[in-house]
Amino acid sequence: MTTTPLLLLVLLLTSADAVFRFASYYGDHMVLQQKPARAVVWGYAEMGALVTVTLKRGIDTISKTPVNVYGDVGVWKVVLDPMDYGGPYYLIAQQTFKNNITTIVLEDVLFGDVWVCGGQSNMEMTVSQIFNASQEMALAAQYPYVRLFTASLETSDTELLDLTKVDLEWSLPTPENLGHGDFQYFSAVCWIFGRHLAQKLKYPIGLVESVWGGTPVEAWSSKTALSKCGLSLTPTENKRCYNFMERYAGPCDYSVLWNAMIHPLLNMTIKGAIWYQGEQNTVTNPSLYNCTFPALIQDWRRSFHEGSLGQTDPNFPFGFVQLSTYIKTQPKDNYPLIRWHQTADYGYTPNPKMPNTFMAVAMDLGDESSPYGSVHPRDKQTVAYRLYLGAQAIAYGDHRIPFQGPFPETVDIYYNYSYMNITYNQELLITRTCDDIFEVLCSSGIDLYGESLYSWVPAPAQSPSSKVVTVAFKGCSHILAVRYAWSDWPCDYKQCPIYSVRGRLPAPIFVKYFE
Ligand SMILES: *[C@@H]1O[C@H](CO)[C@@H](O)[C@H](O)[C@H]1NC(C)=O
Ligand SMILES: *[C@@H]1O[C@H](CO)[C@@H](O)[C@H](O)[C@H]1NC(C)=O
Ligand SMILES: *[C@@H]1O[C@H](CO)[C@@H](O)[C@H](O)[C@H]1NC(C)=O
Ligand SMILES: *[C@@H]1O[C@H](CO)[C@@H](O)[C@H](O)[C@H]1NC(C)=O
Ligand SMILES: *[C@@H]1O[C@H](CO)[C@@H](O)[C@H](O)[C@H]1NC(C)=O
Ligand SMILES: *[C@@H]1O[C@H](CO)[C@@H](O)[C@H](O)[C@H]1NC(C)=O
Repeated sequence: MTTTPLLLLVLLLTSADAVFRFASYYGDHMVLQQKPARAVVWGYAEMGALVTVTLKRGIDTISKTPVNVYGDVGVWKVVLDPMDYGGPYYLIAQQTFKNNITTIVLEDVLFGDVWVCGGQSNMEMTVSQIFNASQEMALAAQYPYVRLFTASLETSDTELLDLTKVDLEWSLPTPENLGHGDFQYFSAVCWIFGRHLAQKLKYPIGLVESVWGGTPVEAWSSKTALSKCGLSLTPTENKRCYNFMERYAGPCDYSVLWNAMIHPLLNMTIKGAIWYQGEQNTVTNPSLYNCTFPALIQDWRRSFHEGSLGQTDPNFPFGFVQLSTYIKTQPKDNYPLIRWHQTADYGYTPNPKMPNTFMAVAMDLGDESSPYGSVHPRDKQTVAYRLYLGAQAIAYGDHRIPFQGPFPETVDIYYNYSYMNITYNQELLITRTCDDIFEVLCSSGIDLYGESLYSWVPAPAQSPSSKVVTVAFKGCSHILAVRYAWSDWPCDYKQCPIYSVRGRLPAPIFVKYFE
């Protein structure tokens, strides 16, 4: 009998405590964005309460900010002063409500750069799934200032205020959470990218993984981004995606992952984002990807800027991996098309439609015997390193760093010699013969009605000088176009024919149509 009131009191206390808290992605060991931006911190409290947010280093108070609680669910939000990198700090929130004072203390909070890692299963592959996994996991202890966070896999029909669940609360890297399980946490590409940054920059790096395998770009796009490409929301069908060698297929409905896994994060101040996605779009609206992907970047940038009250750069650096390979014997699938569309059809980044972006080429990193299916190559070290080169140049302004493979600058056709000269923008490292990696769209005759018949034919190439490749088209009376590496699996592992002398970076896929 006497236990009833006690039980009631306990319930009341628990529910009262549950109201006052930080949002899901603030916790011990976290990294907040350093200056010049200001970190945004928010949480929940009782309506009508007063909340004070204090930042302390040891016993020194760095800042103390009182805020009001507002909105339907009782939310408070502060924008901290710009902070130099470093730590650890205490981040303390105190609620005063009807003379009751409740305090929450977050410990070991650091300032540094926060990167969001997004995409599908190739970003989701954990450190335990890649080559040299045990060596990689043993490195964890050397990077105590790289901090990891992973959002849970959730969908929603509406834009959520907060993550409904978290898979990995802010943590220090350990072998256990770098290799928690296949396609769980922590992302190998995200981690290796982050540890390179930490080693170079010598300050804390926060990595926020929000990823789901087998998902199309449309699932990660807001209604606004989709509408830019003529797509509109359809009622959610809880549709699973077409499953092609992905371990499992993720949700295919438009915006459902934007709603549940990205929208909640908009209120955090971030430095930038990296992205490894596109495999699913070889079978979902492939010909729209040259619109949907640039639209996602633009929309994420605008939204993170707005959601952080202007603190996240509206043009924040965005890095991505150009698709690797899928099936060696299937040259005619949409892999080359998506690779091309990933650059908004420019072939390289940054470009006028995709400013402040950087790309890691991966078509030379195929892995036919990957135990996770050939769509999941295990060399994530090279992928992450190439992203890191791009980040140094684009995100950190180190313009001496080579981060782009060679790209054609001019193409001169000499019909009288039956060849063309392709002049690249930098010195070439030719590693093998180029018998069939170039193709020309060639007319070798006319049909019954006198129309030219065009077809793609291999065009042998060689490099007579450091920046020029000469592509022969004997037997073609006219040519319409030339392309390079236009197939699912153009090269064996690290064996594409054309790399850069500076940095040994592969020449990306290329196509050019002539007038
Ligand atoms: C303050 O909290 C206590 C429990 O700690 C509770 O019994 C009391 O009702 C609260 N007071 C107000 C004014 O809410
Ligand atoms: C995108 O590519 C498709 C072919 O896949 C083409 O028809 C379309 O014009 C391109 N759109 C843009 C915006 O470049
Ligand atoms: C976070 O930002 C989004 C987008 O601007 C906004 O809709 C939402 O209300 C913000 N949430 C909080 C807690 O301020
Ligand atoms: C794995 O380790 C070996 C030996 O250190 C090294 O040669 C190789 O490049 C590493 N592989 C990757 C993908 O990093
Ligand atoms: C072939 O064309 C090029 C460029 O138009 C010209 O420079 C060259 O003299 C021509 N050679 C012959 C053998 O006609
Ligand atoms: C094509 O390029 C090579 C190497 O630079 C050069 O020697 C050759 O003269 C060029 N051909 C023409 C017709 O200009």
